Amino acid sequence: MFPAQLIKALRVDPAMQQPLYRQLYDAVKRAIVEGKLSPGMQLPPTREFCDLLRISRQTVLNAYELLIAEGYLTGAVGRGTYVSEHVPAIDRQARAVSAVAAPVPQRPLSARGRHFAEAGASTGAHEAAALAFRHGIPGLDVFPFETWSKLEARRWRRPSPAFGYADAAGFLPLREMIADYLHASRGVSCTPEQVVMTSGSQQSLFLISSMLLAPGDSAWMEDPGYPDARAILSAVEARVVPVPVDAEGLCVSVGTALHPDAKLVYVSPSHQYPLGGSMSLRRRLELLAWADENKAWIVEDDYDSEYRYSGPPLASLQSLDKTGCVVYVGTFSKVLFPGLRLGYMVVPTTLVDAIHRGKAVIDRHTSIAPQLVLADFIEGGHFNRHIRRTRSVYAERRAALLSALDRHFGDDIAVGPSDTGLHISFAFRRRCNDVHIAAAALREGIEVRPLSQYHAPDIQAFDSHAVASGLLLGFAPVPVAEIERSVALLRKVCGGK
Ligand SMILES: Cc1ncc(COP(=O)(O)O)c(C=O)c1O
Repeated sequence: MFPAQLIKALRVDPAMQQPLYRQLYDAVKRAIVEGKLSPGMQLPPTREFCDLLRISRQTVLNAYELLIAEGYLTGAVGRGTYVSEHVPAIDRQARAVSAVAAPVPQRPLSARGRHFAEAGASTGAHEAAALAFRHGIPGLDVFPFETWSKLEARRWRRPSPAFGYADAAGFLPLREMIADYLHASRGVSCTPEQVVMTSGSQQSLFLISSMLLAPGDSAWMEDPGYPDARAILSAVEARVVPVPVDAEGLCVSVGTALHPDAKLVYVSPSHQYPLGGSMSLRRRLELLAWADENKAWIVEDDYDSEYRYSGPPLASLQSLDKTGCVVYVGTFSKVLFPGLRLGYMVVPTTLVDAIHRGKAVIDRHTSIAPQLVLADFIEGGHFNRHIRRTRSVYAERRAALLSALDRHFGDDIAVGPSDTGLHISFAFRRRCNDVHIAAAALREGIEVRPLSQYHAPDIQAFDSHAVASGLLLGFAPVPVAEIERSVALLRKVCGGK
């Protein structure tokens, strides 16, 4: 059993943006990795944690659940919880490295560094093959790796001057193809100069937020919304204003009532993340009018709308922009694969020069080799073929998931809009703890995300009625044969019928 001073040394602070359970999870994990808590050590009863740290039992339970699910702790609440004998491999390495570098004195991070480190952006790696229902990734089983490798080998065989330093905005022929593709498929109107290649939406969002927002500026963020976008806004010290989303998309009137003077708004209008709806035309026009009046920027995250199962992809918000206030952010993470780290943004003409220069500050330019291969992939017709093929494979997987959910859960859940993208979200009709359910599902080999965690931390903490309790399930990487079995198992985890 470990002593009280070890518990007291775990730093949790209600003033921080991160939810308390997440802070506790980080602190215990750090103590394990740093060897302060040794394998086999028994953790004290939750009530001792609550008394010494002045936090609720639920906070401790949520942290324990996550640590158990990730293999840092073993046992079950009520029967004693122990530090695992098998700390995950990646952390053993970290421990070995920190042991070698042990005597280095502490040098504090800068205030900016602390904001980055505490922003909560995802850092996890996909090491094992996707479990049902890993979300956020496409079906790697249907990617034409052979074609890609042939195109890549051809480029390596004929090194060109392009292998030197390249244009900060990216490989021009590729940007021309992207401009044509976006015009045809999403009504985006732009020149190739407005297209800037990045290493994914994450970098596009970071560049935009750091260049358009000053510390303390308000930014509207969809709630529930994309946590990695929220992390960027908080890293650049924006005042993040959670704005609720309803069936028509972001509630512009609520945003206006809360913070009419916001400088930027983040939206996913074609496929709201995570709920799945698309923004109505009325809301789009309302948002554009507000942005025009307030000289605010709109960031349109269009991450997976190639996949629309009831018709062609929707036209972008950018296509309605008459005043040059929309920055359109796209990615190849869903339509190809995320490890490629290739994305792009389409910036208004007034920002082109500044963004090119800003991109050069960050990393000079995005790696050129994948851009060359992608240009060949598009030019050879493989890109369009891949989209057509995956659309039909994913349509089948989506239909299998919808029908299995209907059979196993019926009216116990309300399935969200599902005509676009690579995931489905649903809300439980009877409130339940979706964090516990997701952790219990993981123990059975099923990966689902709790919907409640997509809300801003302060909304999670203070406004439990506004927080949906439900799950998010990715279907793209899951073969049809696995879907039925996994939904049946998930139903059992949720308490059976
Ligand atoms: C809402 C949203 N936007 C963008 C992305 C893609 O990010 P990236 O291009 O950095 O891989 C994701 C990936 O999960 C996402 O969920």
